[in-house]
Amino acid sequence: MNTAIIYGTKHGSTHKCANTLANEMGINTRLFSLETENDINISEYDTIIIGGSIHAGLINKKVKKFIDKNINILSEKKIGLFLCCMYEGDKALEQFQNAFPEVLRNTAVAHGLFGGEFDFEKMNFLEKAIVKKVANVEKSVSNINYDNIKAFAKKMSP
Ligand SMILES: Cc1cc2nc3c(=O)[nH]c(=O)nc-3n(C[C@H](O)[C@H](O)[C@H](O)COP(=O)(O)O)c2cc1C
Repeated sequence: MNTAIIYGTKHGSTHKCANTLANEMGINTRLFSLETENDINISEYDTIIIGGSIHAGLINKKVKKFIDKNINILSEKKIGLFLCCMYEGDKALEQFQNAFPEVLRNTAVAHGLFGGEFDFEKMNFLEKAIVKKVANVEKSVSNINYDNIKAFAKKMSP
């Protein structure tokens, strides 16, 4: 079984999670960042895992564009979906529902909420101001849920 993990990231947390997931999944897994790759031949893969992060309530634009463009072929694949975000609980679930179309959520073998990070080194002035005001956070914090990544990999394994 060939697996492609296709993800979008702004400050690198989703890349970190995708990389950890790829290591958990083992061989025959390829990583594709939508920041650098825009011509992925998904027909070569039996299993497609799509991941993105939430900024101001919305999933990464490149992830949304990739899903919209490939929705028909994705509906016929074995799918996994994951999100990086700092909200937890019901708010995270709501963001997950808004991030991915119903048809993919319904057929996905695994749904993952992998947590996230606030990385002040990588934020611009405006982002720092938003995070300070909205989240009341003043310095970098990592809240990646490695247990959820492991559980997700297990569910996706053939
Ligand atoms: C400006 C800004 C806005 C954010 N907005 C949200 C949000 O609306 N909901 C949420 O759960 N997390 C939010 N986050 C947290 C991100 O989802 C978190 O930083 C994530 O790890 C980013 O992943 P990335 O580096 O792969 O883009 C926000 C972060 C920043 C910097």
